[in-house]
Amino acid sequence: MSTVTKGISMLIVSVLILGLLVMIVLGFMLGFSHPLPWVLIGVLIIIPIIHDKLIATRFVKWQDSYSVGIDSIDSDHKKLLGLINQLQAAAHYKTDDVMIEDVLNQLIDYTKYHFSREEGMMQECEYPDFDAHKLQHDDMIKQVSKYIDEYRIDKTRTIEEVAVYLKTWLVNHINGTDQKYTPFLKGKVQ
Ligand code: FEO
Repeated sequence: MSTVTKGISMLIVSVLILGLLVMIVLGFMLGFSHPLPWVLIGVLIIIPIIHDKLIATRFVKWQDSYSVGIDSIDSDHKKLLGLINQLQAAAHYKTDDVMIEDVLNQLIDYTKYHFSREEGMMQECEYPDFDAHKLQHDDMIKQVSKYIDEYRIDKTRTIEEVAVYLKTWLVNHINGTDQKYTPFLKGKVQ
């Protein structure tokens, strides 16, 4: 969501809440036993609950089903998901550019570190699908670098788009490509 779109949606929510408050006051003029103001109060209470639930869907939570059966790699994946959530939070709460840059740099560095460690383990165990797996890593680094450049240079990407791309790519990669090496690596590397 762009800053402008986010600003418009905040304005709509604010106007909606203000409108509800006015209607509640007017509703009580019909009498305290009239159901209308009480129904409107209920709606007013539900709005922040729905808002929080919508926000929560943007973040990704580690699940046991994501495990590849190797503690160090699971730990890397958890760290990467945590950094992606930090990026999503920074985008949502509009933290300053310095903080966003810091999280972005940490994400890039840790992703490269993780890929390198994982590739080393695959080579050590002579994993037969190593080349295709490495190709996916290389493609991801190229794609995410392109997205980040587009964000940094001309803002044709928002930081939320970068976070959503990273989240989708990583969850799909862990559950698809990474888990295929489990029978070849589990118990042989740490
Ligand atoms: Fe865990 Fe293939 O990246």
